[in-house]
Amino acid sequence: MTFENKRAAGIKSSPSMAIAMASKKLMAEGRDIIDLSLGEPDFEPPAHVAEAAAEAVRRGRVRYGAAAGTEALRRAVVDKFKRENELEYTVDEVMVANGAKQILFDVFLATLEEGDEVVIPTPCWVSYGDIVTLHGGAPVHVPCGAGVGFKIDAQTLEAAITPRTRWLMLNSPSNPTGAIYSHEEYRALGEVLVRHPRILVISDEIYEHVLLKDVPFVSFAQACPQLRDRTLLVNGVSKAYAMTGWRVGYAAGPGALISALNKMQSQSVTSVSPIAQAAALAALTGSQAFVRRGAQTFAGRARIVAGRLAQIEGIDFTQPDGAFYAFIGIQALIGRKTADGEILADDPAFAAHLLQCFGLSSVPGAAFGAPGFIRLSIAASEAELESACDRLGAMVRSLKD
Ligand SMILES: Cc1ncc(COP(=O)(O)O)c(C=O)c1O
Repeated sequence: MTFENKRAAGIKSSPSMAIAMASKKLMAEGRDIIDLSLGEPDFEPPAHVAEAAAEAVRRGRVRYGAAAGTEALRRAVVDKFKRENELEYTVDEVMVANGAKQILFDVFLATLEEGDEVVIPTPCWVSYGDIVTLHGGAPVHVPCGAGVGFKIDAQTLEAAITPRTRWLMLNSPSNPTGAIYSHEEYRALGEVLVRHPRILVISDEIYEHVLLKDVPFVSFAQACPQLRDRTLLVNGVSKAYAMTGWRVGYAAGPGALISALNKMQSQSVTSVSPIAQAAALAALTGSQAFVRRGAQTFAGRARIVAGRLAQIEGIDFTQPDGAFYAFIGIQALIGRKTADGEILADDPAFAAHLLQCFGLSSVPGAAFGAPGFIRLSIAASEAELESACDRLGAMVRSLKD
């Protein structure tokens, strides 16, 4: 019997989650696996975060709450945008959801008509296309290769726009490439969008604080204030505060759009757990030293990985500007043979061999719409990263023409 409707059948489970689960299974069987498939900080959130959650429980602050989030957390989000991005929002122009991921569900559920197109510069995060498809939209993946810094430019954007285009999905710093858009690059995109008043913009800024070089972060709303009434900023505490499992994301945008998202929340999840919201409030209002330290840690690891990968002949790697991933070009190795004579026909075959025979778990580029790459998370200890680079090097050296 088939249970799924057409939309559900048209998408796959998150590939990175699936690989992480496969790695866990191998580990449970006793295999020595380094799992660099998932993107989550490998350290704990600051102590005051857990304490705020415990205090919420002790005080019995565990009832249903407003769909948009608690007033206190929304105020903290408003303050965050003012303090860090020089952006002015009111509490009614921000909302809180179960992670940035749920905000995307709310947005597309609330706004897409059947067949509406969403322009997605690609490589892109594994979930974007499928979330759009699930809500009846048509993802338009626009290839943006290494030659253009993995970023969409004004001309390419203009060419991708049709009368059905409803959203442009931006993500800077990018998962998986780490690319960061500059003020000027955003301004050029903004000039195109001004000529297309029906198009709305999502700017996924979840890696805002994971900056690996001296390339600054710019919020799309800062660079294009003229588009404020059709821009939705998406952010959250997962990556900046190592709070992936707490499931708190937030968004800022025009009040009418935020109300529509809140309506989706009220009819689905009701609200984010008040315990998690208390924790997120503590994260946003407490000392921000943790966030700066996290970025320094990731930057150090990115340098170590870059140094080690530079010694592996046949792969193509440029140190990323932001986020915590190494996006590694393996095009030159596709078509080579393993020691057993198996031809590595594509990046999923490459990643499967790397996992099965060398115990290193990665995500193939195909999952990000970018065949010929693999992605390794650098959110792991230096020892694990060094060992991971050794394993990748050993695999590459084992391949034959
Ligand atoms: C680009 C991007 N956006 C959103 C998310 C989801 O974040 P959250 O944990 O807030 O749902 C991720 C998580 O990996 C991501 O990489």
